[in-house]
This record gives sequence, structure tokens and C-alpha cells, in this order.
Amino acid sequence: MIYISEEIQATRKPSYLIQPFILNRWSPRSMTGEAMTDEELMPLFEAARWAPSSFNSQPWRILYAKRDTPEWELFYNLLIDFNKQWCQNASALVVMVSHDNFEKNNKPSITHSYDTGAAWMAIALEGNARGYVVHGMSGFDFEKARQILEVPEGYTVEAMAAIGKRAPKDKLSAEMQQAEAPSTRKPLSEIIINGKFH
Ligand SMILES: Cc1cc2nc3c(=O)[nH]c(=O)nc-3n(C[C@H](O)[C@H](O)[C@H](O)COP(=O)(O)O)c2cc1C
Repeated sequence: MIYISEEIQATRKPSYLIQPFILNRWSPRSMTGEAMTDEELMPLFEAARWAPSSFNSQPWRILYAKRDTPEWELFYNLLIDFNKQWCQNASALVVMVSHDNFEKNNKPSITHSYDTGAAWMAIALEGNARGYVVHGMSGFDFEKARQILEVPEGYTVEAMAAIGKRAPKDKLSAEMQQAEAPSTRKPLSEIIINGKFH
């Protein structure tokens, strides 16, 4: 059975039928503020393990902090104020990091960020399919993240993500409640190019 959730059906009109778990993924902000157990959280990171990468180099490193633990404040304080507002109810914060060079020969990998993007997407898809919020973030201090989390030279800080249990949108500020809906996309014709770039 093809299951597209009602909230998705209201805004997203795909031009071709695709796998429901792709269309159903979106980035809510409203979360309950409850903790997640490792049994709940680890399958999302397991999904990242199976992402494809150049030469199977698996350049991603997933730094995480669970709420109510000593690491939480380190991660939370990296965020810009806008993200702090809604991330106070997240269960975990993640910093995606990638290794710039191949481990086997220390030569630069041109696709390390691309590969780590695939790993992040696997987390988002697995989490969303399990009913959790997984919300990507670039609104944080990248340099501070490197320093505070002691990310070594040769690794790139790529992005953050918030993970949590979904809550009704009334947990958000009035302004954020308005934005709490699945977004739409550019038409397919705008993003595909048959042949040379034009
Ligand atoms: C790399 C990345 C950075 C993002 N940064 C932020 C952010 O700092 N704050 C925020 O509220 N949303 C952020 N977003 C969420 C995007 O705005 C959202 O994914 C986009 O509007 C598409 O909506 P959807 O994920 O619901 O399909 C980010 C998403 C990605 C992938």
C-alpha cells in the first residue's frame, strides 16, 4: 500500500509516483522535549553506516549529544538564537563531520562532503520513517564547533541536525507555527538538464 501522510498530501504534488518514504520526509521543528533511549536513537545512526561513498571510504563522523547529558550544552551553545528556540526540545543534537582525505592513502577525496551528505540523508529518512523529527541546520558557529568539539585538522565540519520526538505545533512560537508545514519544490524541469548546462 502506498502511504502518503495527510499533511504531505496537502502540499506536495509529485510529478511522478516515488517511494513514499522520500516524499513523507520533511523537517518539522516542534518536539516534545523528551529524551530518546539508545534503542530509539542508534538505528538512525546505523542508517548512516550504509550510505554509499567514493571507494566506500565512509568519510563521515557523527558527533552527537543527548539531552540531559554533560555534552548537551556544548552542542546547544553552538546554535544561533533562532535554532536555540526550537532545539531546546530536541532529544539529540548532531554535528556531521567528514574526513577530507582517504584513509587508505591520505590523498584528498573530492567527494567527502557529498558522501557525508548522503549519510545525513540516510539519518533523516530513517528517523522520519520512524516518526521522529530530523531537522538539518547550518545556523551554528562552524569555527566554534571545530574548537569546542576538538575536531582535528583534516576534517570538515559539515552541518548540524536536531533529532527528537514530534509534538503538536502549539509547542512553538506563533511565528514558527506558521512555518510548521511541509514545503514544496521547484518543478523537475528546472533541476534537470539533458546534456550540456544551459
Ligand atoms: C544543510 C541544511 C541546513 C539547514 N539549516 C537550517 C537551520 O539552520 N535552521 C532551520 O530551522 N532549518 C534549517 N534547515 C531546514 C531547511 O530549511 C529545510 O530542509 C528545507 O526548507 C526543506 O524543507 P523540508 O526539509 O521540510 O523538506 C536546513 C536544512 C539543511 C539540509
